[in-house]
Amino acid sequence: MTVGIERLAAYVPPWVLPIEALADARGVAREKARAGLGVEAMAVTPPCEDVVTLAANAGARLLRAAAVSPDDIGMLLVATETAVDHAKPVAILVHGLLGIRAQCRVFELKHACYAGTAALMTAADWVRAGAARRRRALVIAADVARYPLRSPGELTQGAGAVAMLVGNDAAVLQLGAETGLHAADVWDFWRPLGHREALVDGKYSVDCYLAALDGAFGAYRPREWPELGPGEAFTDRVAHLLFHAPFPKMAMKAHRRLATLDWQAARERWAAVAPRLDDAIAEAYAAQVAPGLEAVARIGNAYTASLYLCLAGLLEREGRRLGGRRLGLFSYGSGSCAEFFTGTVPGRASEATDGGLGRLLAARTEIDVPAYERAFASADAGGDPPAGFQGDFVFTGVRAERREYARVAR
Ligand code: COA
Repeated sequence: MTVGIERLAAYVPPWVLPIEALADARGVAREKARAGLGVEAMAVTPPCEDVVTLAANAGARLLRAAAVSPDDIGMLLVATETAVDHAKPVAILVHGLLGIRAQCRVFELKHACYAGTAALMTAADWVRAGAARRRRALVIAADVARYPLRSPGELTQGAGAVAMLVGNDAAVLQLGAETGLHAADVWDFWRPLGHREALVDGKYSVDCYLAALDGAFGAYRPREWPELGPGEAFTDRVAHLLFHAPFPKMAMKAHRRLATLDWQAARERWAAVAPRLDDAIAEAYAAQVAPGLEAVARIGNAYTASLYLCLAGLLEREGRRLGGRRLGLFSYGSGSCAEFFTGTVPGRASEATDGGLGRLLAARTEIDVPAYERAFASADAGGDPPAGFQGDFVFTGVRAERREYARVAR
């Protein structure tokens, strides 16, 4: 039985700040942002958007694109680290906005940037167990990345959501049966109760990410099936590698680590590449990794949605060419938990692989730094949709300590 992603849809907020503008305003060299971090632009949420609208807007686009009735959803999981309440889950607000039936298991998952993968795996296991009873799971990863203004993390902020329909008819990505896991209790990135912005030990978080990659890929590689021959590289079996991308340069560091581990484990391959390692890694990066980073370089970090925005961007760009090919995916969430897994784009890959991301990115409105700072300061204000707003739902504000939402009249 194949299980995986039947359809996916992305959603990004309507405002974008070019990274050069923020770098100039902060006195940071433009090249540090562009080349050092790999960032081109930052998605910015207007006051009428929060994590609930990002998730619900992605979900509404998915249900429409897949022509799936809300009555067909038996499990709704929203993965986020941008929780808006300590008790009431984002998922139940999304459930109400999308009009999903009452007979549905609904909950929110949190584990920093790993929660989207935790949700996808939970949904896939639910389908495999037969508990779905011909219904599907709706998995949504959504986040708004916030660091203190003028901190090193500020240049890597972003926002976005990806909704995925998980079931047996996996027209987008059939998940492999094996995964590799790595968990460790570390303080690399966290957000204490009451804080709106994350606290981060940035350089240490990069080390933790790479240590978790060692652990998760190291756990996965011996489980690859059919078993790898002694001279065979795992990376030769996949068309592309996708990495959680808090900033695109992190994926470059991660790829260097993974390729080195993989080639060192394949003796003949290592003998061939070791004398020209930098060139071999650069060639493999250009072919296998860079195509998956184009979209997120224009969005910034969307935390738990980041890996799935990479997937949506890659499939939109190359989906038809990838029919029958495998992808390797690495998910990392600070704190920490990491998972390496694979998926196969089915031979019949078609319009199902179009998550609509390119059209949303092209329709965004460019804003300047004062407008970004106003939006940052009024994140809980709510408001009316700006001109050209593409979403179905808006956040209208907080009244009597309750968040209120409305459908956009069209
Ligand atoms: N031109 C080109 N590159 C430049 C440059 C310039 N003028 N100035 C600096 N750089 C490069 C640095 O060499 C470095 O590259 P390297 O990583 O290949 O060595 C890169 O830009 C980043 O600069 P650096 O000074 O090392 O980092 P920073 O203090 O700005 O912080 C992070 C970077 C990632 C730690 C910070 O953005 C952060 O805390 N982010 C949030 C946490 C996060 O995303 N963690 C990732 C794992 S989950």
